Amino acid sequence: MSGPDGERPRVLVTGRGGQLGAALEASVDTWKPVDADVVFVGRDDMDLGDADSVRRTLESVAPRLVVNAAAYTAVDRAESDVDAAMAVNATAPGAIACWLAPRGGALVHVSTDYVFDGAASRPYREDDPTGPLGVYGHSKLAGEEAVRASGVPHWILRTSWVFSAGGANFLKTMMRLAASKDTITVVADQQGAPTDARRLVAFIAAMLRPASGDASARGAPTTAAALETLARTRGTYHATAAGATTWHAYAQHVVAGLHARRPEGPWTLEASAIQPTPTAGYPTPARRPLYSLLDHDRFVRTFDIVPPPWQADVDACLDELLGSIAH
Ligand SMILES: NC(=O)c1ccc[n+]([C@@H]2O[C@H](COP(=O)([O-])OP(=O)(O)OC[C@H]3O[C@@H](n4cnc5c(N)ncnc54)[C@H](OP(=O)(O)O)[C@@H]3O)[C@@H](O)[C@H]2O)c1
Repeated sequence: MSGPDGERPRVLVTGRGGQLGAALEASVDTWKPVDADVVFVGRDDMDLGDADSVRRTLESVAPRLVVNAAAYTAVDRAESDVDAAMAVNATAPGAIACWLAPRGGALVHVSTDYVFDGAASRPYREDDPTGPLGVYGHSKLAGEEAVRASGVPHWILRTSWVFSAGGANFLKTMMRLAASKDTITVVADQQGAPTDARRLVAFIAAMLRPASGDASARGAPTTAAALETLARTRGTYHATAAGATTWHAYAQHVVAGLHARRPEGPWTLEASAIQPTPTAGYPTPARRPLYSLLDHDRFVRTFDIVPPPWQADVDACLDELLGSIAH
């Protein structure tokens, strides 16, 4: 657990070390309420699969605001580990929300495009019917419902295809394969929007920022102002990058980007050697939605934040990753 003691209001961030948790910690000064201390917890400090651990941590940190960046994210493993996925993704968020509600707190909770069944032909809106295809999606949907039922002021931010320079994710896997394979096969009939964990942090920072007032009042909010903003704008929002791609086109974009940035790099794989396959040709324990684009209209209208195209953040991530590799 990290974070100073004192009587200042506290913000608790779960999922320390995960993609989003690490991004929140790396740029804490961009989003945290000015008067708050932020306590980041990992599994050793607060095990979301253990109700006692959750309650003990809440009692000892006594947060006014919780950002729940932890989740059971192993989509395929969840199919055979149902109890653990439900405990972490549904029971724990509900318990956090129920702890905060009577104490005047608020919750920022993160959810997923996998709450939908993927049968749509236009981007999903927040109030479209859900229909998860697997245990992970079911557990995340149950978490959303538990948060809503608690009555706590909350944002549920549904995001998709998260990547980060530091995390384990598809982009990093493609980078590794680009230097070790000369051909690969990638699913070409699932559509979504890759979203940088840093972009999510930027969204949260902008959402928390006061929307009006003179320029000097537009920096980070106080905790009271953040709680007021959350109460006023409470609800579910679709917070992904803009645009659409498939895993196959995403892989090609990444590999082409590696060659363009470092022509003399260790690349054995050309973008043109990435073969498309239908989902049916790549069986996995969990079914995934074929189409999981999320509509941003409510998000844009409420917060005046326009998500950038996914390529911008993928390209920035490639710049960062290649910048960190010695020539
Ligand atoms: N990754 C995606 O593609 C994606 C897509 C859509 C939505 N989301 C959502 O976005 C949010 C952030 O995801 P992410 O990509 O940052 O996930 P991530 O990189 O997999 O990180 C998940 C974090 O949760 C922690 N965690 C798992 N089980 C725990 C437990 N029992 N107790 C305490 N901590 C536990 C993990 O700790 P350990 O390292 O100890 O396991 C890790 O720090 C999640 O709500 C996720 O559902 C993710």
